[in-house]
Amino acid sequence: MVETILPLKVSDITVRKRGVHLLGPVSIEMARKGFTIVMGPNGAGKSTLLKALHGMERLVGGTVEWALPQKAAQERQSFVFQTPTLMRRSVVENVAYPLLVQGMRRAEAMDVAMSWLARVGLADMAQNRASYLSGGERQKMALVRALVRDPEVLFLDEPCANLDGRATRDIEGLLQEVHAAGTRVVMATHDFGQARRLASEVWFMHRGKVLEATPAEAFFDQPKTPQAQAFLNGEIVE
Ligand SMILES: Nc1ncnc2c1ncn2[C@@H]1O[C@H](COP(=O)(O)OP(=O)(O)OP(=O)(O)O)[C@@H](O)[C@H]1O
Ligand SMILES: [Mg+2]
Repeated sequence: MVETILPLKVSDITVRKRGVHLLGPVSIEMARKGFTIVMGPNGAGKSTLLKALHGMERLVGGTVEWALPQKAAQERQSFVFQTPTLMRRSVVENVAYPLLVQGMRRAEAMDVAMSWLARVGLADMAQNRASYLSGGERQKMALVRALVRDPEVLFLDEPCANLDGRATRDIEGLLQEVHAAGTRVVMATHDFGQARRLASEVWFMHRGKVLEATPAEAFFDQPKTPQAQAFLNGEIVE
């Protein structure tokens, strides 16, 4: 049997910072397959939840249990932030870096990185300094850097905020491809169109809680909670 870090079982997690309650308690399960879109108003706790699942938040309570031990689980997930961090190196070196860290030979790592860059149309810019890339190009680079180790689970926190339609379409295309190839995707977005195009499941958050975790069709047809209904109607939900 192939070892997998999924399913994920999250029980009663709570995050608090400087005495302020930011998240929880949240209990949720994540099945082996799917494309989860996390929605909700600003400050609802989407970023905090994604980071908590990825092990980047200190929990004051609750557990995040992957099907494999923590270290193995950690190695099989990647995270793409809204604003990518760049190393002061070339584009291809940025993308190859995670492979070098895990011990791949340099020539091979560069080859793998180049093939991923070609998939997002950045092959011609591979030798440029990463800092010269435009916002959309940076985000594509960050995405392939996250994918280069072939993670089982990919977290993305509003990766297309600030991007134009074309860059967004390119990124969505690649996400659909990796999802079809078996990668479990969990992504926060404010873009309803994007959510409808990509989601198989929606987690709707409000004030640090997950109010709904529903198959996408059901969520968009008939959200259960008044907060989600108002949110989908474009009302201001606080
Ligand atoms: N380091 C911190 N210290 C104190 N409060 C914080 C910290 N980080 C986040 N918060 C607060 O936690 C709450 C949840 O923030 P979070 O960033 O998770 O929301 P979000 O749903 O991702 O919002 P957005 O849509 O604006 O990205 C917000 O009220 C925010 O102000
Ligand atoms: Mg956020």
